[in-house]
Amino acid sequence: MPPKKKSAPSTKAIDTLLDESRKFKPAASFTRQANASNALYKEGAANPVKFWEKMAKELVWKKNWTKGLIWNPPDAKWFVGGKLNITESCLDRHIKEGKRNKAALIWEGEPGDQRTFTYFDLYRQVNKFANVLKSLGVEKGDRVAIYLPMIPELMISMLACARIGAIHSVVFGGFSPDSLRDRINDAEAKLLITADGGWRRGQIVPLKHDADVAIADCPSIEHVVVVKRGDFLLRFKEGRDHWYHRLMQEADAYCEPTVMDSEDPLFILYTSGTTGKPKGIMHTCGGYLTGVYATTKYVFDLKEDDVFWCTADCGWITGHSYITYGPMANGATQVMYEGSPNWPDEDRFWQIVEDYGVSVFYTAPTAIRSFMQWGREWPDKHDLSSLRLLGTVGEPINPEAWIWYHEVIGQKKCPIVDTWWQTETGHIMITPLPGATTTKPGSATRPFPGIEAAILDENGKPVKKGGGYLAITKPWPGMLRGIWGDRQRMIDTYWSKWDKTYFPGDGAKIDKDKYFWILGRVDDVINISGHRLSTMEVESALVEHAQVTEAAVVGVSHDIKGEGLVAFVTAARGTATDDKLVARLRDFVARKIGAIAKPEKIIFTGDLPKTRSGKIMRRLLRDIAAGKIIGDTTTLADPDILNKIKARYEED
Ligand code: WTA
Repeated sequence: MPPKKKSAPSTKAIDTLLDESRKFKPAASFTRQANASNALYKEGAANPVKFWEKMAKELVWKKNWTKGLIWNPPDAKWFVGGKLNITESCLDRHIKEGKRNKAALIWEGEPGDQRTFTYFDLYRQVNKFANVLKSLGVEKGDRVAIYLPMIPELMISMLACARIGAIHSVVFGGFSPDSLRDRINDAEAKLLITADGGWRRGQIVPLKHDADVAIADCPSIEHVVVVKRGDFLLRFKEGRDHWYHRLMQEADAYCEPTVMDSEDPLFILYTSGTTGKPKGIMHTCGGYLTGVYATTKYVFDLKEDDVFWCTADCGWITGHSYITYGPMANGATQVMYEGSPNWPDEDRFWQIVEDYGVSVFYTAPTAIRSFMQWGREWPDKHDLSSLRLLGTVGEPINPEAWIWYHEVIGQKKCPIVDTWWQTETGHIMITPLPGATTTKPGSATRPFPGIEAAILDENGKPVKKGGGYLAITKPWPGMLRGIWGDRQRMIDTYWSKWDKTYFPGDGAKIDKDKYFWILGRVDDVINISGHRLSTMEVESALVEHAQVTEAAVVGVSHDIKGEGLVAFVTAARGTATDDKLVARLRDFVARKIGAIAKPEKIIFTGDLPKTRSGKIMRRLLRDIAAGKIIGDTTTLADPDILNKIKARYEED
């Protein structure tokens, strides 16, 4: 049969065939005490700008703004003319308003060492380090690169930059020297903050050594400040390198906060697109802080006595917004942990929850699927009764993982907030409000109050029911203000698909209750015999099977169907991965979704290629499935996995 032409991108809605009908109404006892009620939705819808202005008024300003928003698409200015230093909202006001001795940060290192900082401790450390940065010549608007493990000095460094108006660019400590070098050079950072090393799975990550390799090619770096985490060997370059603790000994205890315009830049954070070099996403002071402050307050329902734990690393946006800035602006107590979840055993997280009485817990679906694979005996060993609210972020959560999280970790009493947002959006955009929103496993539910989102087709027409492209139709305070040094790329990537509307690059569907179901990146959407399917839905069906732990599904070109599916599957421990299982899984998918979604091929693999933040790199699996040379693997946690999978694929 002659090969059929691959169908052109259709403007038709994405066909969504997986239906999930379970609903979870918030418990009355939670609703009674919740920060957010349904009234908040009405308030946000009535006048979004007024709504955000009300949120902004809860922060500390040096001078009030004259206009809430000026919107010249794609450029938004929020709280125009307002002046502030955001560290006053995160620190100064708490020590003046009765939280001086409250624990701000409870930190645990991977080897088990612990440090606790009250708000006053943290305030002093930030002020001192701000003075250190000044003494090394850092001024307002200068870029400072931060390459640290998850230790308190990471948060202190970020806040110290904010104190003096320097723009921080945090580079995740797991990135390679090449990635660090490219990010430093793109931002032309003047100073680098790193550590002698950090702990990961019982091993030392030699950060200073890697940083030395990177900055050999970074002409803009004038000074390097080195935090002493352990007794790790390193080389010091006289005049350029300085010990953090030595400089801190000499620093003054107070640093006058630099007055910033609401629209002055706060930080750059690099995010990798599916193609091309990383994009330096830019965020500003007033709008960003307002967005993270309000979402932390209402989505995580924080109360005076809560212990909040977000398991992300500050090298990612989640750690910026829901460790460094949101919880601090709310005067919360939070836990920070340095290492991996299965060190020394698979119950490290549950030990931490028990030890510190964590009440609000925020993690990623990929972590939840690992917990499922390790088995419920690990959480069952611990007293998790302090937990009262659970959250997820980073990728779509499959209903099976959601239910497991609900039953095993939340013990059926904790609401789950599945929060959709991006590096570019700065803060949570689509999420349940715990206590107010009925949840459905796998759905991020509704836009946060004051946010307007829609599902559009290729031509920008709203999709009333079913799938299409996710779109944000009104400006919001934490929106990216640009890509560092590349305005055109920002316009092309986010603002060119439709008029005056932001395109996040995700597919989504909407159901009859107007709930949003995020289907993943649109490049994970494939076309089989004219049906546009999300590979995520097939993955979700596969992982529902008792013998499957994790699955990644990619499209390959297919002579007859246009595209076909290849599934890379990690089977549950002890399962025989034979032809019989392949047949059972294909039938299972056919039953769950329809015969059209049956994978052409199923490859069993012990692990999947993931970034260090846990995202499965489907792009690389696509290359393997297409028999192409494998693309850029620099962000992979374990590059060797690819060779193993490739060998399995070629054997088959
Ligand atoms: C995906 C992380 C489904 C999505 C905060 C988005 C999600 C990308 C969810 C951003 C969610 C994030 N459900 N998908 N709750 N949260 N995503 O920039 O594809 O690291 O575009 O920001 O993660 O990833 P980023």
